[in-house]
Amino acid sequence: MADKVFEPACSRCNDTGWELMETEGREFVRRCECAEGHRRERLLEKAGVPGRYRHCTLEGFQVWNPDDPTLARALRGIQEFVDLWPESDKGLLLMGPVGTGKTHLAVATLQELITGKGVQARFQDFTSLVLEIQMTFDTPGAQRELMRPLISADLLVLDELGAGKVTPWVMDLLYYLVNSRYVEGRKTIFTTNYSDFGTGGQETLTDRVSARIRSRLYEMCRRIELRGSDYRKQRLADHSERRTP
Ligand SMILES: Nc1ncnc2c1ncn2[C@@H]1O[C@H](COP(=O)(O)OP(=O)(O)OP(=O)(O)O)[C@@H](O)[C@H]1O
Ligand SMILES: [Mg+2]
Ligand SMILES: [Zn+2]
Repeated sequence: MADKVFEPACSRCNDTGWELMETEGREFVRRCECAEGHRRERLLEKAGVPGRYRHCTLEGFQVWNPDDPTLARALRGIQEFVDLWPESDKGLLLMGPVGTGKTHLAVATLQELITGKGVQARFQDFTSLVLEIQMTFDTPGAQRELMRPLISADLLVLDELGAGKVTPWVMDLLYYLVNSRYVEGRKTIFTTNYSDFGTGGQETLTDRVSARIRSRLYEMCRRIELRGSDYRKQRLADHSERRTP
């Protein structure tokens, strides 16, 4: 009986990842497109996006409220950031109340840049980071290990900046992270529920993350504000309206 013949998945490189080329009688090898595709798939898996946000895309972001100009403005700002990459001079600071689509936009940008441009990007939830930092308190060198991939990522999404209580020691490490990315010229997308104006006695972003970090953010980021209402609540209302006869 003849041996079973395995068809390579990629006929250009026979699954080696390298393609043999020829120009003017000279042969050379170059990275095959399929290898780059696999690399991007791995980057996507390693980016750390929580399952419930994997569906987020820029096309999936609806400008659903005609009374809210910040939706279209935010989407335009994000699209420009993606199109310009890696030339964009600043990262982004997405500010706005609960459920306005900040995490959606940040994740959509990250995923778009990985699949479209092969960018090495990381998603990090701020509260988990604070907890993880606290857990390294007694272990020398552990903070450095924890921070290394976050500092070195081409793009970092730091979600929910300012959430949770932060001790001065943790704040110092957070400043170290933010500042290291700043001096290396690496782009960061921050999202936050806190604003710069403490209306009604609410804490401001500066109150939450210190003036030192807030002032760095001014230099590092273009501010994108989402002022509108809660998409989750709106969707629930739509559903129940449809159910009532
Ligand atoms: N304009 C929009 N179009 C489509 N989906 C949206 C839009 N805005 C929000 N969503 C969806 O609604 C849910 C809540 O949005 P998201 O988590 O991005 O809000 P958020 O601003 O990050 O809120 P929080 O401050 O609570 O973190 C998500 O599932 C997101 O995909
Ligand atoms: Mg969010
Ligand atoms: Zn190939």
